[in-house]
Amino acid sequence: MKACASAPGKVILFGEHFVVYDKPAIVSAIGLRAYAEVERSDRGIILDGWTGENPAIRASAYIAEELEYSGGINLRIWSSIPQSVGLGSSASVSVASAAATSLLLKGELDLELIMRAAHIGESLVHYRPSGIDTTIATYGGGGIYTRSKGFRSMDFNLDEILIINTGKARRTGDLVKKVKEFKDAHGEEFEKILEDAEQIIWEAVDALRARDVESIGKLMLRNQELLRRVGVSSKEIEDVIELCMKSGAFGAKLTGAGGGGCVIAVAEEGKINLLMENLGKSFEVMRCELMAKGVREDSFPDLP
Ligand code: MEV
Repeated sequence: MKACASAPGKVILFGEHFVVYDKPAIVSAIGLRAYAEVERSDRGIILDGWTGENPAIRASAYIAEELEYSGGINLRIWSSIPQSVGLGSSASVSVASAAATSLLLKGELDLELIMRAAHIGESLVHYRPSGIDTTIATYGGGGIYTRSKGFRSMDFNLDEILIINTGKARRTGDLVKKVKEFKDAHGEEFEKILEDAEQIIWEAVDALRARDVESIGKLMLRNQELLRRVGVSSKEIEDVIELCMKSGAFGAKLTGAGGGGCVIAVAEEGKINLLMENLGKSFEVMRCELMAKGVREDSFPDLP
């Protein structure tokens, strides 16, 4: 018997990095998904013929341990989420893998167990993960996440966003360490940045509820300025933001860890096509659904 589950990727609309220091962040699941299929075997936990340290294997192994299953598992993964560019690919893969294992061994999606397992998987590749990526990949939708208080879902009145991939892959852990170095060297300034970041979140909640796209854009630029100050922007990100603004966006910012990865942008409906055309000449541009469904039982895609 096989079991399959899928989990969505994510965009952080506001508050990445500051969420590591227990400030709120606004996050949404997106319409790109990772799929995991599992079946029992008589060997260890094997991902596409491979064993070793990997978030998906670790997450599946954690579920097996918790459920006192000592047999083996064959694991197969497929994902439409670009990797290492801030869209939560590794968290989605870990959540999907944990969920498929939960279905196989327990016959249900035990969300609390899945999230714990995925967090342990993520800890292999991140440095002090706040838990935001695994939480949104599990619950889906959108809302406010705080490290100490968890996830509070919220209805945004924004159903899609432009995502522009700078094409530069990077490691989240390295960027989280960079922010820690900034904090250690500039403690007082960092405290002030955290306060400003939180203020942006509360203003953004109102703007998202009101679907005030112009204010959302302005708040993105303010958030980007704080991210720039703590050292996680990059030339690629700044170039993409500049091109977005020149093409008529209301605002844009990096999403996820920065250092490359993806930029998100908002614009009035009439300008979206021009933005996509201008950016599409040099970058991968996606018009992505927000508030996508969280982890679920699914069928593994038919691959060519
Ligand atoms: C990564 O998607 C978001 C960061 O804030 C790290 C984290 O919250 O674990 C950069």
